[in-house]
Amino acid sequence: MNIPIALLGYGNVGRAFVELVQRKGEALRRDVNLAVTLIGIATKSHGAVIDPDGLDLEAVRRAKALGEPMPTLDFIARCPAAAFLEATSTNPFDGQPALDFVRAALRKGAHVVSANKGPVVFAHRELQALAREKGVGFFFESTVMDGAPVLGVGREGLPGADIRRIRGIFNSTTNLILTLMETAGMAFDAALAETQRLGLAETDPTLDVDGWDASIKTAILANVLMGADLRPADVDRQGIAGIAREDVLEAAKNGERIRLVCEASRAENGRVQARVAPERVPMHGALGSVMGTTSIVEFETDMLPCLTIVEHDPGPMTTAYGMLVDLVNLARGRAQESAE
Ligand SMILES: NC(=O)c1ccc[n+]([C@@H]2O[C@H](COP(=O)([O-])OP(=O)(O)OC[C@H]3O[C@@H](n4cnc5c(N)ncnc54)[C@H](OP(=O)(O)O)[C@@H]3O)[C@@H](O)[C@H]2O)c1
Repeated sequence: MNIPIALLGYGNVGRAFVELVQRKGEALRRDVNLAVTLIGIATKSHGAVIDPDGLDLEAVRRAKALGEPMPTLDFIARCPAAAFLEATSTNPFDGQPALDFVRAALRKGAHVVSANKGPVVFAHRELQALAREKGVGFFFESTVMDGAPVLGVGREGLPGADIRRIRGIFNSTTNLILTLMETAGMAFDAALAETQRLGLAETDPTLDVDGWDASIKTAILANVLMGADLRPADVDRQGIAGIAREDVLEAAKNGERIRLVCEASRAENGRVQARVAPERVPMHGALGSVMGTTSIVEFETDMLPCLTIVEHDPGPMTTAYGMLVDLVNLARGRAQESAE
């Protein structure tokens, strides 16, 4: 099977995806009989390119600019891709304009794979219904814990199980800040500056530090795996800006670590509630032993009491891998339905 695909966004993730297709093209053909042909790329300010015969991957990897500028909705209308890969910037306030890009692609009958959390957290049900109506897939494994198959395990690996609680550490930047405050004795500001120097935190780091990114991921898990209908603002949220080095060191003296813990749980009345807040957790427990940019999720279910997935060293390449896995599942015709 050959899938002509197009990338919306050609930043860290888009570029990693092209490199991944080059690296894994042969293995995909051999193992799952799948050929991926990149026929288009759209960016915001570096132009767009479409070639239905397939782009020269080596040339687009070297290219700084791709072609003439083209509004992204026009690109989606004109590009004959069977699947669009959404890797434009996340807008945590309303998911736009990526939400309209996903709508447009699905409406024209193309599959969509999104690494972008915005469309998923604001309109997952609408987009899933639209995909169903059009007989295509809407996939978004990379939106939570990058390439780790967290949504896949929750949806496909636990049939019939009742997910009662999901708990974890989903934001790498804040976890690295807390780690540096403990292991290097840095003050909060110095640790934040270090994560920015490493290219992890944004120039405006409030989305990470204030817990918004973690809230978006928690809401996605609650909505997709526990049947909730939460927006980021519905998550009870507290960030790490008020944490001092002394708090971190005092916790360590008591065998504990402060972690930005994300949790979605089902209350007695059946409602799902979600929170993100710094918590003191045992240093040698699952969450307490997560250091640096590593992420973790624990599923508490009526069948498997606690199932844990840990992802070490996430980055654009692991995110790209999650998108590739979505493409493979798409080729296998997997339905990506959520808990209702
Ligand atoms: N980095 C990761 O490891 C990671 C992990 C999980 C999820 N994600 C998600 O993946 C997405 C991409 O991340 P990234 O790190 O690759 O971001 P990035 O490096 O900032 O790249 C964003 C790309 O999107 C393009 N873009 C922005 N607005 C656009 C628009 N209106 N139309 C067309 N293209 C547009 C930009 O175009 P220009 O080049 O012209 O600016 C750029 O090429 C984000 O939603 C992010 O949250 C990333």
